[in-house]
Amino acid sequence: MRSFNHSSEIIELLKTKEYEYLGLVPTMGSLHKGHVKLIEKCSLKCDQTIVSIFVNPTQFDNKIDFANYPQSVQKDIETIRKINPNAIIYTPSESDLYTSPAKAEIFDLDGIDKIIEGKFRKGHFQGVATVVKILFEKFSPDYAFFGEKDYQQILVIEKLIKKYNLGVKIKCILTVREENGLAMSSRNILLDKETRYDAKIIYESLCIAKKMIKKNDFDKIKNFISELFLANKKFSLEYFCIAENTSLKEIASFNPTIKIRAFICARFQGIRLIDNIALN
Ligand code: PAF
Repeated sequence: MRSFNHSSEIIELLKTKEYEYLGLVPTMGSLHKGHVKLIEKCSLKCDQTIVSIFVNPTQFDNKIDFANYPQSVQKDIETIRKINPNAIIYTPSESDLYTSPAKAEIFDLDGIDKIIEGKFRKGHFQGVATVVKILFEKFSPDYAFFGEKDYQQILVIEKLIKKYNLGVKIKCILTVREENGLAMSSRNILLDKETRYDAKIIYESLCIAKKMIKKNDFDKIKNFISELFLANKKFSLEYFCIAENTSLKEIASFNPTIKIRAFICARFQGIRLIDNIALN
């Protein structure tokens, strides 16, 4: 299956195909094993898969981060073909998705976009919601697949679907990790080999939090993790927090009946890496 730059061609093609379930895997390319899992799961669940590859400008609050975002479209297309030769690959230019200049829509997402990651990346989730809504409206998929590493993004998209009646079901796929525990991310290739290894501190911190949670108060855990990063010469801690699973409201003490998660973001020379795990 070839790749398409225009959604209109895909919409025409879909009319000629017979399928029961259409699945969408939205990506920004530079595919890694986490994306491979998403495409595999989508291809198992749905008899027609679309994979989009588009580095979405409206979700970047930092021009340098946008300019440095890794891209490898040809390699990505080969990767997708190997997983599912029948997958439709959408590689649009900006003008196929946005009128010029590309701008994020303003959605009322009940504040879920403004906390945790949203505090540090102003407008990021509005940009994500904008492009995802455009993709959903173009292709009307039955299912869309996202990785648990971007857990807050999934809640933002679920909120978007509910508020705007988009009728798409979300499938959350478990985080795929490198050998040292580092969550797979397209940004990992921006790290040199040694730094990529040292980035294990991010997942280790989450695991420590999970171990400490039953015996210690949350301030003690936060202080412990802050000190771990202060002692680390490479990575600085942008945030670590413990929040309720669905509202993402920060909580201060452990109650086993409430599902909680730890969220972390660490920085190395302008490269931000995020991760999260369920704590109970
Ligand atoms: O998770 C990503 O790669 C992006 O945020 C997404 C969902 C493809 C929207 O640009």
